[in-house]
Amino acid sequence: MTDRPAASLDPDVPPAIAYDRDQTAVMGETPAPHASSVLDDGDGLIAPSPRSEDRAVATEEIVVLDYGGQYSQLIARRIRDCGVFSELLPHHVALEEIVRRKPRGIILSGGPASVYADGAPPLERGLLELGVPVLGICYGMQLLMHELGGRVEQAEVGEFGRSDLQVCDPGVLMAGMPREQTCWMSHRDTVFQAPAGFKALASSSASPVAAVEDPERRIYGIQFHPEVVHTPYGEEILIRFLGEVCGCERTWSAASIVEEQIRRVREQVGDAGVICGLSGGVDSSVAALLVHRAVGEQLTCVFVDHGLMRKDEGEQVVSMFRDTFKVPLVAVDAEQRFLEKLAGVTDPEAKRKTIGAEFIRVFEEEAAKLAGANGGQEAGVRFLVQGTLYSDVIESGGGTGAATIKSHHNVGGLPDDLQFELVEPLRALFKDEVRAVGVELGLPDRLVWRQPFPGPGLAIRIVGGEATRERLDVLREADHILLQEIRKAGLYRELWQSFCVLPDVRTVGVQGDERTYGYVVVVRAVTSDDAMTADWARLPYDLLETIASRMINELREVNRVVLDITSKPPGTIEWE
Ligand code: XMP
Repeated sequence: MTDRPAASLDPDVPPAIAYDRDQTAVMGETPAPHASSVLDDGDGLIAPSPRSEDRAVATEEIVVLDYGGQYSQLIARRIRDCGVFSELLPHHVALEEIVRRKPRGIILSGGPASVYADGAPPLERGLLELGVPVLGICYGMQLLMHELGGRVEQAEVGEFGRSDLQVCDPGVLMAGMPREQTCWMSHRDTVFQAPAGFKALASSSASPVAAVEDPERRIYGIQFHPEVVHTPYGEEILIRFLGEVCGCERTWSAASIVEEQIRRVREQVGDAGVICGLSGGVDSSVAALLVHRAVGEQLTCVFVDHGLMRKDEGEQVVSMFRDTFKVPLVAVDAEQRFLEKLAGVTDPEAKRKTIGAEFIRVFEEEAAKLAGANGGQEAGVRFLVQGTLYSDVIESGGGTGAATIKSHHNVGGLPDDLQFELVEPLRALFKDEVRAVGVELGLPDRLVWRQPFPGPGLAIRIVGGEATRERLDVLREADHILLQEIRKAGLYRELWQSFCVLPDVRTVGVQGDERTYGYVVVVRAVTSDDAMTADWARLPYDLLETIASRMINELREVNRVVLDITSKPPGTIEWE
């Protein structure tokens, strides 16, 4: 699984996800710089669709209620890493919805509010009557303490970052752990006294009550963040909560759901035909392969080659699916169509819209052909596979009721009147879990670990100008050299993305006594956990030199190579 992030947890930092009252979530505070599809690995031309009957995929489940903390998602991921399926729901989700899931435990996340603030997210008291263990983390703990009669006040100083923790009574939650340990804190309000019936387990210099429990009522609280790497015993505390308190067996893993998903897909699809738009990205590839395992030749994949892919990528997708995995595949060579539509288009959003619209047209044509031919199936083609991920579901409303898809997902998404029922076998999984399923299904490493690639492809990397065939070819070759060298240096997986940008700019150079007037290639390489923020990668000078000289020597049109050293923020990863 991925490394735990070196979190900067500050309650003043706005939450990454904001839910409104009807459980619609938007990436509120994170600007969506591109007005069109921003799914991250080339599956981006198809919009995710939240559904109310989101399915539980495990017998044991921990519900995490999101009070707006910056790392609420991380809690759910850690719980899954510990072997228990976990879902993140907005804090105001209906109690019946929680009951319906029959959770083994409920975790209340951190959040930016003070329990005394107007409009602070309240505690649903009914949660405490369910007989299910409840663990409050940071704001979640303060809320429990405040509601149950403890003393929560704003301390003179906040407590942010690493803190020393003294365990005075380990209780159930911290049994067997050192009396002195460090933890990661991020709060202003502080619990000064636990409510009657609670035992204080630990304190820090700024938090007289940093952990509490009332095993009888099965209510627990920790002021610090067990989900981040800076709390060395955090995972152990979570494991104790899961095992000793909730009685979970901890047998869940992403790979363990493959069989279950295959069964569900069979049940959903029956003997009808299914189509899947393949992009070459890991999400649609894993989804397609899983559905193929389930219904075999009832599935037909459609791969629209818009001519904006990386070098050889189209051929690789086709040969892998058709020849290696024997998945029925329709490959549409639509390069000419896309180039014609892109002629004269220079504005980035116009490019995205043009590509999105053309993609839909091509896909619809192919779908109509397949449906017309009944796809060779008795019952006709009725289903469409989408590689929707859990993060898409959360961002679109948490899968807990009617929700609005992020506006930028709608642009370029498939239209509503496309008459297919959706098959979304990955809706419960985070990205790295999808990779684990991909490995389980036998997808080669090269695909499983493919760096994210935008749906509109290389077209949005020709900046300030038209995406012509000539420029696309130059960019594709430069990109190919970059990736060859990055792979050779063993850095491909370490980087979130590495790619080239081709501005519509020429500069003067001199080669072999001749004056040249060629393109500038920009090398962009970033590290990131989730693309929300990114740091420019410190590539070794020798590697940069090799990359630059290969590009200039091998590509006649290129006479200058520059490196982008901008992080995100203030820059974005892509240039357009
Ligand atoms: P930015 O440039 O906003 O990118 O920092 C964040 C992530 O999104 C990807 N990206 C896109 N993906 N369609 C996509 O499917 C797009 O239009 C698009 N624009 C950016 C980008 O590659 C990065 O991973």
